[in-house]
Amino acid sequence: MSQAAAAPAEPALAVRIREVSREIDAALNRELCSPADSSRRLTDAIRHAAIGGGKRLRPLLVCAASELYDVPFGQALRAGLAVECVHVHSLIHDDLPCMDDDDMRRGRPTVHVAFDDATAVLAGDALLALAFQLLGDERTHPSGAVRAQLVVELARAAGAEGMAAGQMLDLFPEPDADVATVTRLQRLKTGALIGWAVEAGAILGEAPPEHRTGLRGYAHSLGLAFQIADDLLDHQGDEGVCGKKLRKDERQGKTNFVTLLGAERARRQAEALVEQALAHLHFVDGRPASLLTQIARFAIDRDR
Ligand code: IPE
Ligand code: IPE
Ligand code: MG
Ligand code: MG
Ligand code: MG
Repeated sequence: MSQAAAAPAEPALAVRIREVSREIDAALNRELCSPADSSRRLTDAIRHAAIGGGKRLRPLLVCAASELYDVPFGQALRAGLAVECVHVHSLIHDDLPCMDDDDMRRGRPTVHVAFDDATAVLAGDALLALAFQLLGDERTHPSGAVRAQLVVELARAAGAEGMAAGQMLDLFPEPDADVATVTRLQRLKTGALIGWAVEAGAILGEAPPEHRTGLRGYAHSLGLAFQIADDLLDHQGDEGVCGKKLRKDERQGKTNFVTLLGAERARRQAEALVEQALAHLHFVDGRPASLLTQIARFAIDRDR
């Protein structure tokens, strides 16, 4: 019998993150052309921002929710790429000098630093447009009604009722913001796209309404917990591991759960939210929701 100790099994989540990341990179490469003229600068900037980085949490959530309904992986991946495109669009714009003025993202110089401000604005615009192009294509789902629902809900999540509104509140906070105000801000800024990612699985799988309610509850709590973890990382994370500038929120006068409650209470709040998220998954009884469970824990246990 061999004396060599068996290598410890790799956690399932790490394997899935790697698989989804690889597939997202490959799918985006296929979607992007490489023009021979100077518009090549735009696709180079998109590649710089969107390929080979990030945790790919939102595509992973689409895949995890889709698995409950046996949605083909290729369909889930297209929807996952769509929400990742909107997310990267939001990051490129978030880093611009007129917003958070950041020079590092995903361990690389931000797009406006590596290219220029105008290219960063256009790269964000092009990614936002690509998201809807992906969803409208019948390879995402044979039913036009399903595709329309994906499109309408993503537009709502990204726009003036969702992420963009949250970014506005983040830049121009309400005076004397309290926990309720910050909760609303974070639910829009971060929660709306995370909510879409989870719900996309239910839309693709034409899930019954009671499942959609459960998934919405899960996403609601998860999104908030995820943003508290982002604020905790800003407060006490490692820049090298996170790949972005940290300790900026306080300096820029941002109000978030950590500045309001302190790190210890914010952390406890995030943990309570993860338990709430998991409680919403009871409806799946018998279906394999383990990936959604693992993602919820990862949302706050992460170091980047
Ligand atoms: C960062 O999002 C901005 C927030 C909405 C909190 P992520 O932490 O998901 O960033 P990437 O995609 O892994 O780079
Ligand atoms: C960014 O929030 C949220 C969006 C891009 C919608 P933050 O400004 O806190 O994200 P980081 O810390 O720069 O990643
Ligand atoms: Mg910001
Ligand atoms: Mg920022
Ligand atoms: Mg942050």
